[in-house]
Formats: sequence, C-alpha cells, structure tokens
Amino acid sequence: MHFPLGPGDGVGCAIVTTDGPERGDAPGEAKDGTKAVAEREREAATTTRADGRADEAIARDAELLSAQLSQMRERLFPPSAKKALRPFTSGEAAKLIGVSDGYLRQLSISGEGPQPDTGAGGRRSYTLETINALRRHLAAQHDKASPKARQYLKWREPGEHLQVIAVTNFKGGSGKTTTSAHLAQYLALEGYRTLAIDLDPQASFSALLGYQPELDLEGNDTLYGAIRYDELRRPLREILRPTYFDGLTLVPGNLELQEFEHTTPRQLAERGARDDLPFFARIGAVIEEVEADFDVVVIDCPPQLGFLTLGALCAATSVVVTVHPQMLDVASMSQFLFMTADLLAVVREAGGALGFDFLRYLVTRYEPHDGPQAQIAGFLRAQFGERVLTNAMLKSTAISDAGLTKQTLYEVGRENFTRGTYDRAMESLTAVNGEIEALIRASWGRGR
Ligand SMILES: Nc1ncnc2c1ncn2[C@@H]1O[C@H](COP(=O)(O)OP(=O)(O)OP(=O)(O)O)[C@@H](O)[C@H]1O
Ligand SMILES: [Mg+2]
Repeated sequence: MHFPLGPGDGVGCAIVTTDGPERGDAPGEAKDGTKAVAEREREAATTTRADGRADEAIARDAELLSAQLSQMRERLFPPSAKKALRPFTSGEAAKLIGVSDGYLRQLSISGEGPQPDTGAGGRRSYTLETINALRRHLAAQHDKASPKARQYLKWREPGEHLQVIAVTNFKGGSGKTTTSAHLAQYLALEGYRTLAIDLDPQASFSALLGYQPELDLEGNDTLYGAIRYDELRRPLREILRPTYFDGLTLVPGNLELQEFEHTTPRQLAERGARDDLPFFARIGAVIEEVEADFDVVVIDCPPQLGFLTLGALCAATSVVVTVHPQMLDVASMSQFLFMTADLLAVVREAGGALGFDFLRYLVTRYEPHDGPQAQIAGFLRAQFGERVLTNAMLKSTAISDAGLTKQTLYEVGRENFTRGTYDRAMESLTAVNGEIEALIRASWGRGR
C-alpha cells in the first residue's frame, strides 16, 4: 500500500500492510532487525535471574526498540516531511461552504472574494484556508446575527458556551483516538474553531494530527506544562500548535504528561500548605485561558482512570464513551462506569463542578454482520436508550490502513481504496460526526 502524505509536499511513504513475516519491515531492514535480535539475545544471555539486574535488561530493550523505531520513522516520515491537507474540488468546497457549485463558480469568475487556485484546464481547487476565508467573506455580506451569516460562519456567539468534549473509556483500543482525531478534523472542516488536546502519554492523537512527539517536542510542550504544580508552569497559549488543518489547533502530548499522575498525590498530601488549584480544576482552568479563540475542544483521554482523565471529565461539558461491542469490553466498561461514578462523586464533594450537556456511548469498530456484536450493540441500546449514539462507527480497513501511516480518512485519497470500502467508511464517519455536531449545536440552542 502506498499513501502520499499530501499533494503539496511531494513526499510519499510506504508501509507493508500484510500480516506476513515482513510486516512493518522494508527491504533491508530484516538485516538490521536480525542484528538487533542477535545483539539482544547476547545481552539477555548475560542477564540472568541471579544477577538481579532485570531493570538494565529492560532499559537495553527499550534503547534497541527506540533506535529501530526512529530508523523506521526516518524512512517513513523524513524529519522534513510535513503533513499537508489536500485541496478540495469546487464541488467539495461548495458543499462544505453550503452554496451551489454554480454560485461558487460565479464568485470565482467575477473575481469576488478569496480566490481558488486554478490548475491545468482551468480546474479550480480550494484549500481549507480559502474555504474558511470564503465563509468569512460570505458571512460578512449579511447582518451578523442573521441566520444566513451564521450558516456560513458557524462560530459560537456570545451566550453559547465553549463545548469541551472528553472522549474516554479506560479500555485500551476502544477507538478513543480514532474517534477524537476524526471528530476534531470533521469539526474543523465544517468551520468550527477547534482545539484538540492530547492527554495520552502515548501521543497517538498528536501523531495523527502531524506531530511526532520525539522529533517535534522538547520539554514542557504538552498540557502538563500548563497544569503542573511547580514554577515551570507556563500559559496554555504558549503550548498551542497549529496543524495542517486550518482552524484546528493542537495541544500535543508525550510521556511527560505522566508526571501529573506522580505529582498530584504529592500535591494532595501537601494540601493546606499551599493554595494550588485542586487537580480536578486545573485542566478546566487553563482551557478558560484560551476559551475565546475556540468553539469546540476535543480531548483524547488515556486508557486509564487517573488524575488526567478525571481532570478532563471535570473540564468537559460533554462526554463520548467509546465502546467496542464485545462482551469483555462491555464488562470492562461497566467497571469503568462504576469507578468513574465513585471518583466523580468524591470530586463533586470536594467542590468539582459536574454537569454534562450530553453523555453518549459510541459503538466503535462495529461489524453489523457479526452476530454477537450486533447482539451486544442491541443490548447497549436496550439498556441506555438514546444515550447510545444512533450511528455506530463501522469497522473498516480504510480506517485501520490509514492509521498505519498515521493518517485519518479525511487525509487519504479515495483512490487508495476500492470505492465501496472508502465510501462506506466515510458515510459511517460522517453520520457519527454529524450526530455529535447536532448535539453540540443543540447545547447552544441552535438547530442543525
Ligand atoms: N472504525 C475502525 N475500523 C477499523 N479499525 C479501527 C477503527 N477504529 C479504530 N481502529 C483501529 O483500532 C486500533 C485502536 O484504535 P484507537 O487507537 O483509536 O483506540 P484507543 O482507544 O485510542 O486506544 P488506546 O486505549 O491505546 O489509546 C487502531 O489500530 C485503529 O486504527
Ligand atoms: Mg488512544
């Protein structure tokens, strides 16, 4: 499989996607890999149970793995490779803006407003930046509060509160990051000013949005920098990063986020001695610093119910719990709900504010033809009624293959897949994201 990173950058990346022995290896790598394995085995042989130095053996494995991974990344994503979003055809642009193709052509012919790029054969193409500029241009022709202006420019108005959506579940692999990334990009494409916050030390959300934590970040570049308890704390505004989606801003994540889980117990023990904001109020407080610049915040939570996740739930105005419909996952979700309820009750008693505009379960990686999965999805609906989103995210190789090269379905071209595969996945994605968008708008008292 071969995915271009984007049309503008001229960089391509290839990755083997079969399950054969070469999985993830490019030609030539087997040799390095073999060498690494031989070396590791030799090292392992010298580390016996008797010498009691398992920590050193693990550290050596970590180093080996990290070296291999960075080699692989250099090959797939040269450091200079910057992700770029493909430009849109005039038909796509018209649909995104909410005007007819003819009207958009008219604007271009008469030279009115921001102009598209014109390629060979006079074909017009629009970057997301141009589309957003056109939205602003068209909205400015109407009275600011008129329905027409708000149809073009969907930004929230005074009185409509910032919507902070926490995507969570402590079950690993339930689709949190995939959901967060596609939701954040969908909202940006629809013209909302969107802030993506990566709360997971694994940083896959950041990677999907174009940042390699090891290459692009130094210290104090994650949300931890803004919520830490010591004097190195810095304003969230300094930590924001633009992404290759116009209107989508990222607070990246990396391993340093884990520090919050370690320093919070210490801070709790010392409470009284200091007048720090409590842990559960810190994320909400720093989001408030940048509140005026955004309409929606999407937080990708780590797969654990630690202080970060609790902080995100307290900052959230809404919650999406991702569930893969399998018995074990649902059983673990019940544990998650019990524990969340208990912990949030403690937080509420300690003064944390908890009230959600909506809390919804999203069925992810769904295979409707799989009997047991369909049964479990039905069971969830029977129990939770409308709290389960009507639309489920279907399992699709288009999503998982794109994920292998750290891309979303909004980035990969349709030409990389059989049309049916791509279209089915996109349809499911649009339905899920559209349903969440409708809930956001309802929380602002707007119709669709
Ligand atoms: N709809 C889908 N179709 C196919 N594969 C999917 C789909 N959604 C997610 N996946 C794949 O499932 C895996 C896990 O998804 P994801 O990383 O989003 O889960 P997560 O809950 O964020 O995991 P973690 O708990 O480790 O953070 C990924 O490899 C992803 O590509
Ligand atoms: Mg994740």
